[in-house]
Amino acid sequence: MMALPAVFPAALLLLLLPGTLTQTFRTLPINVVVENSVDKTVPLTYSTYVVDGGTLLDALETLMETNANFKFTYTKYPDLGPYLESVNGVAGNPAEHTYWELLSQKEGGKVVPLDVGIGCYIPSKNEKIILNFTKWSESADGKKPIAHRMS
Ligand SMILES: *[C@@H]1O[C@H](CO)[C@@H](O)[C@H](O)[C@H]1NC(C)=O
Repeated sequence: MMALPAVFPAALLLLLLPGTLTQTFRTLPINVVVENSVDKTVPLTYSTYVVDGGTLLDALETLMETNANFKFTYTKYPDLGPYLESVNGVAGNPAEHTYWELLSQKEGGKVVPLDVGIGCYIPSKNEKIILNFTKWSESADGKKPIAHRMS
């Protein structure tokens, strides 16, 4: 009996992997900071990665799969896209005007709010994404979570 046929599939896989992995799955390191400005807990920073061109939703899913200390849930709205609902068991509550604000800090830049939702935002290398549990006010210039639902 020849050994070669049994070995061949593994060798073939090795030949195929470098191309597919480096071209299709190039990853970028990012940090996700979970801040709770309502309960004023100490912010937690998670190091994770996102596939180049992947969305923030992809990054959060990767983080949840690879780190048992991070979890999140979201709701998919037909017109508005996925909306971040809870992080580490803390959920936004319309009655209390609380929601998860999405902020970003690019390398060397300042903290700015994201203008699109988690399903559309494409993080860049070494970007810090801040998930800030906060309250919106009812004043005219108050923050409205709806701004973060846009896709
Ligand atoms: C989080 O929200 C609070 C309250 O709105 C704000 O004071 C704080 O600056 C926010 N955090 C960041 C990193 O912007």
